[in-house]
Amino acid sequence: MLRVGVIGMRGIGNNHAAAYHKHPKAEVVAVCDIVAERADSSAPLYGAKSFHSVPEMLANVELDSVSVCSGGFENGGDHFEPVMQCLEAGLHVLCEKPLSNSIDCCRQMNAKADEKGLYFGTNLNHRFVPPAARAKKWIEEGKLGQLLLMNMTMWIGNPAETSPWFHIRALHPHSLDIMRFFCGDVKRVHAFFNKAPGRSGDKPSVCWSNAQVNLEFANGVVGHLTGSYDTNPEHNLERAEVMGTEGRFVLDDCFQDLIFYPRRGDELTHIRRSVFSNLNFGGTFDNRIHRWIDQVTAGVPRDEIEASGLEGYKVQAIIEAAIQSFEGSCVAEVEV
Ligand SMILES: NC(=O)c1ccc[n+]([C@@H]2O[C@H](COP(=O)([O-])OP(=O)(O)OC[C@H]3O[C@@H](n4cnc5c(N)ncnc54)[C@H](O)[C@@H]3O)[C@@H](O)[C@H]2O)c1
Repeated sequence: MLRVGVIGMRGIGNNHAAAYHKHPKAEVVAVCDIVAERADSSAPLYGAKSFHSVPEMLANVELDSVSVCSGGFENGGDHFEPVMQCLEAGLHVLCEKPLSNSIDCCRQMNAKADEKGLYFGTNLNHRFVPPAARAKKWIEEGKLGQLLLMNMTMWIGNPAETSPWFHIRALHPHSLDIMRFFCGDVKRVHAFFNKAPGRSGDKPSVCWSNAQVNLEFANGVVGHLTGSYDTNPEHNLERAEVMGTEGRFVLDDCFQDLIFYPRRGDELTHIRRSVFSNLNFGGTFDNRIHRWIDQVTAGVPRDEIEASGLEGYKVQAIIEAAIQSFEGSCVAEVEV
C-alpha cells in the first residue's frame, strides 16, 4: 500500500487525492494546504489527516509518496519548496506541471531526486490516454516509416494577465510533452509570439498569449507548435499530427479521435473515443496517477518512470529556449 500525502488542496490537489483514493494500492493518509480551511474541508473526503504546513505533515505521519499541487507564480512558482522538503525527507514526489517557472529549480529538484535515489514524476497527464498509446505503438512498429514532420496545436481561453510568459510556461509543458512523447528530444527552437488586444481592458496586454514555435528534434524531425490563450474553451483543446515516410496520423482533442492516413493505399484507420472508454479530461488525471502508483509500487527502475521529473525539466528547457529565441531574434539551442 502506497501511503500518500497531497500538498495544495484546491481544484487540482483534489483531482489527485480523488485519483489516489480510487486505486486499491494507494491510501491518502494526509492532505496539506497553507490555507487551513482548504486542507480541513478536503481531508474527510479521503479519510485523511489535515495539515497546514509541509514540515508539520512530515513530522506527524508516515508517508511513502506525495503529490505537489501547489501552483504559484506562472502556475509553478510554489512547487520548489515542498518538492525539496519531501525529497529531503525521503519521499517519492509526483509534481504538477510546470515543474517550476525557474529552470534552475527544475535542475535542482531532479538533482535532489537523483541524490536520494527517489522517484520523481511530472503530471503530464495528456499523454496518458489510450489513443496516444496506440499512436506511439504505430511509430514503434514502423507503421509511419521514418518520422519527418510533426504539427501540434494547443489552445484554450485563459484571460489571466499575470506575467508576460504565463501562457508558454503554464500551458505548453503539455503540448511539448506530447511532441517529445512522439518524436523525442528537441535540439533547437525558433519562436514568435504576439499579444491579443484587450486582455487587460484599456491597458496594453501583458501576456504573450499566442505562440508559433518551430522545433528541430535530435532525430531530424522538424516540428511546429501553435499555442494560444485566446480561443473559445468550448472548442477543440489540442491536435497532434505526426508524418513519416509511410503515412501520418492525426490525434484530435487529446483522446477523442485518432486517424491514420497511409501514404500508399487508400484505407484509413479511424479510432474513435467510444471504442476505448468514456474517458473525459478528468480521466486523464486518473490514468496518469494510477500509472504512477503502479510504477512506484512495482519498484520499476527510476529511469523507467513515465513522464518523469527529467521529462518535466526537458519541456521547461524547450520553453526557455523559445523565450530566448524570441527575445534574441535567433534560433536557440535547448540546454539541459
Ligand atoms: N495537469 C493538468 O492538466 C493541470 C490543469 C490545471 C492546473 N494544473 C496545475 O496544477 C497546479 C495547481 O493548480 P490549482 O489550480 O489547483 O492551483 P491553486 O493556486 O488554485 O491552488 C494551489 C494551492 O496550493 C496551496 N499551497 C501553495 N504552497 C503551498 C505549500 N508550500 N504547502 C501547502 N500548500 C500550498 C495554496 O494555498 C492553494 O490552496 C498548478 O501547478 C497548475 O499548473 C495542472
